[in-house]
Amino acid sequence: MAPPVAMNQELELTIDSLAYGGNGVARLNGFVVFVRRGLPGDTVRARVTKVKRNHAEALATEILAPGPVRVDAPCAHYPACGGCRFQDLAYDAQLAAKADQVADALRRLGGIADPPLEQIVPAASVFHYRNKMEYSFTQYEDGPTLGLHKAGRWDEVLEIEQCWLTTDLGNDVRNAVRAWAREEGLRAYDQETHNGYLRHLVYREGRNTGQVLVQLVTAEGERFETGYFVEAMRRFPEVRAVHWAINDSPAEVTNLPTKLLWGDDSIEEQLCGLRFRVSPNAFLQTNTEMAERLYLIVGEYAALTGTETVWDLYCGIGSIGLTLAGDALTVWGIEVSEESVARAIENAELNGITNSAFFAGNVGLAIEELRERSGAPDLVVVDPPRAGLAGKALRRLGRIGAPRIVYVSCNPTTLASDLKTLREQFGYELRRAQPVDMFPHTPHVECVTVLEKTGPTLES
Ligand SMILES: C[S@@+](CC[C@H](N)C(=O)[O-])C[C@H]1O[C@@H](n2cnc3c(N)ncnc32)[C@H](O)[C@@H]1O
Repeated sequence: MAPPVAMNQELELTIDSLAYGGNGVARLNGFVVFVRRGLPGDTVRARVTKVKRNHAEALATEILAPGPVRVDAPCAHYPACGGCRFQDLAYDAQLAAKADQVADALRRLGGIADPPLEQIVPAASVFHYRNKMEYSFTQYEDGPTLGLHKAGRWDEVLEIEQCWLTTDLGNDVRNAVRAWAREEGLRAYDQETHNGYLRHLVYREGRNTGQVLVQLVTAEGERFETGYFVEAMRRFPEVRAVHWAINDSPAEVTNLPTKLLWGDDSIEEQLCGLRFRVSPNAFLQTNTEMAERLYLIVGEYAALTGTETVWDLYCGIGSIGLTLAGDALTVWGIEVSEESVARAIENAELNGITNSAFFAGNVGLAIEELRERSGAPDLVVVDPPRAGLAGKALRRLGRIGAPRIVYVSCNPTTLASDLKTLREQFGYELRRAQPVDMFPHTPHVECVTVLEKTGPTLES
């Protein structure tokens, strides 16, 4: 049967719920339409943007009657800016939607009929929570400017005057970089023509230390007076490190080798009472306040007694492992980024922690060798990127057969499918699962889980 809607058709729809990723869900005689910018309970006018056999996509162009969870968004750039998705959804409703998504993923993809879920932990700060921002330069008629990608557009940047996810200091530093760029008469790099010079600005702020790292990313060549840029940044006493990176490829990336223009190579952040050095390309959870909360939950689930060999896989700068080290016999970390591993080793020293070791490597390839070095682990903590545990890492982790695994995840769907494999093929049972909101106004949700080995490995 042909879909009951056509491209560009205008529809009047009532939104029932939110789908994973943040679109509203409406039904037209049973046919599902995913409505961007539609919130539960809204009646909207929407234009169809995509038609498939079983569903369509649409964009809400007018809110005809707002639903009960719709609120006013405080940010002047909302909803044009792609940084936030849900500023107009009441925070309690955001939390409920995220908790539902975790529950739904564990049931449908994880095959766990009654997941042992604890109440979602709300963010301590709903705004101004990020310790890292990555801005893009774009060329306006009156000069270069800095901002974030427009919602749904990889190729268009929106000038930002005040972002609600960073601090006042973060806004001031970004606006000062824009003023500097204009004064210098530089042009923003153009993604289509590959002309122009200024590409990105990375801003990192140690929220518990007040230290700031600034990284400018340009196209090839030294087309600015570095001393003048440093001077513009040093007007902020919090700025401790000014880096410059060249990106000579068309790819929009910022994790590049950097040249230190002024100050320290890295800044410091404090998490759970420990000091961490953070350099331009080292991983740090982007919400400091909630990272501390997350690590406390990991510590609670780990329930260490001081006798355990603990693995911290995907360890970044060692933050989880080092916060657990005081309660463990030994901690062993693996991380693919050499820069992060260097920071992890340095961070152990900085905190006088002597029972930890960190190695650079791909988890999927390195864990068998790790077992030879450390012996069998009593507890494995994994905190993989959004893609979850890649096939090899998952199978090898399963075969290691640690009595307990604490799985920290930023993607409930990959978490759920990894848990399914660990349960069905390797005899693990999910004991507790704690969703945590690290990123208000975005669809992202973090989750800490603990699994216990209760059965045999069935893998053939
Ligand atoms: C979500 S972060 C977790 C970092 C750390 N646990 C923390 O809380 O700050 C994931 C980390 O995994 C690393 N990574 C990605 N793929 C990897 C792989 N195949 N093997 C080892 N590390 C990997 C990334 O560089 C990143 O530092």
